[in-house]
Amino acid sequence: MKKMLVGFCLLLSMPTIGTAALSPVEELGKKLFFDAKLSTPGGQSCAACHAPEVGWTGPSSSINAAGAVYPGAVHTKFGNRKPPSAAYGGGSPPFHYDSGSRSFSGGMFWDGRATGEGTQMLMLALFGTVDGAPLADQAMGPFLNTLEQHNPNMKKVCLDVRKGYAPQWNAAFPTMPIDCGDGLGTTYQLIAVAIAAYEKSSEVNPYTSKYDYYLRNQAQLTAAETRGLQLFEGKAKCSACHPAPAFTDFTYDNLGLPKNPQNPFYGMPPSINPQRDAWVDPGLGGYLQTLPESYFTGLQLEKAATVAANLGKHKVPTLRNLDLRPSPSFTKTYGHNGTFKSLEQIVTFYNQRNAMIAQGQIVPEVPANINETELGNLGLTAQEEADLVAFLRTLNDGYKP
Ligand code: HEC
Ligand code: HEC
Repeated sequence: MKKMLVGFCLLLSMPTIGTAALSPVEELGKKLFFDAKLSTPGGQSCAACHAPEVGWTGPSSSINAAGAVYPGAVHTKFGNRKPPSAAYGGGSPPFHYDSGSRSFSGGMFWDGRATGEGTQMLMLALFGTVDGAPLADQAMGPFLNTLEQHNPNMKKVCLDVRKGYAPQWNAAFPTMPIDCGDGLGTTYQLIAVAIAAYEKSSEVNPYTSKYDYYLRNQAQLTAAETRGLQLFEGKAKCSACHPAPAFTDFTYDNLGLPKNPQNPFYGMPPSINPQRDAWVDPGLGGYLQTLPESYFTGLQLEKAATVAANLGKHKVPTLRNLDLRPSPSFTKTYGHNGTFKSLEQIVTFYNQRNAMIAQGQIVPEVPANINETELGNLGLTAQEEADLVAFLRTLNDGYKP
């Protein structure tokens, strides 16, 4: 009896497995997420860079194998980072500074700049919580980003949505009609709220990996996977930053990743990338640099020192669906700039980074602020590296127990 109760409590704290029917708001969000007409020129939906069959990240093997950065709706224009998964990260809290640990966490994007501030009042009014506000803030970006969907303004997006989805809209937001005039600002936020609701839905976050079934005693891990899980939570320290169930703690770190020399951003004209080959991704520090002095004085911090202390730091991404790919020969890519092309490579990097730097095999993109305490010299054997990879492969959705 006692045993059953413990098991029951464990189950309660675990996310539900499988997909439920979408709510009207989620349904609207799904339509908008996959609509390739919502770009200028048409042809690019969110899914062009966040496709379900590859774990909601970039769906082109050849792009992943090289620069890892996806072209925008205007195909000659590129941003500067790899698309992270649009799934499982939606629980990121609003961007904030924690004076206890003296570090930043929360927000969306590799550098946290979708803070949640844009939509939090609306989220509070609609749902009574600011949960998911960073995700909704994020969704306001791509439609207007010249390097992504490239629409001229909010009004164009609003008119397209009104033309295509009036019935779905009325079902989703019965008391808030689409208003592309005076109410444009709120309508545009609601578009983002719907997309975020879909990204947080059970269809996008089904928790159907082998690992999830294993937790419910509905699947057995192999010996290698079991050893990998033990390493993940122990000697290899992975769960310190990638805790279950989302496999991210929404904090920021500089692991010392090298540049990806094939990043097409280096070749963009000075109007997009004035620094050309010398460009270094500043990560969180770059976002903090854009904030006013008053933001830092409010936190009793000094701006220049805080920016410097966060250069090169990127948000901890989810590890779910890392290995989800349409075929074994399809290349996936890892890290903010997609410098690693296999799970073996990135695990070796975690294990042996310090030696690789000492021997000149890799040069960190940002040599400052590198995390020296939790990675770099883990002392794993080749077998242990392989075991860790075996465990990471149990995190793909769609496992059939
Ligand atoms: C041209 C490719 C492209 C398109 C189109 C695109 N994205 Fe992204 N997305 C990216 C890249 C690149 C990043 C990371 C950018 C950064 O961190 O600076 C990103 C980041 C994100 C994130 C943040 C994930 C995290 O963990 O921080 C979410 C969520 C997301 N996109 C959803 C969307 C939605 C919703 C749309 C459509 C409205 C969309 N994306 C359209 C490339 C794209
Ligand atoms: C100190 C915190 C920390 C620890 C410990 C840590 N990670 Fe990470 N992980 C990160 C951060 C931050 C990133 C993104 C870094 C970047 O792109 O510059 C990342 C990225 C990754 C990625 C790439 C994911 C993607 O979508 O691009 C993988 C895979 C990964 N980690 C696996 C692991 C494994 C396996 C371990 C244990 C050996 C581990 N991590 C330990 C913080 C950590």
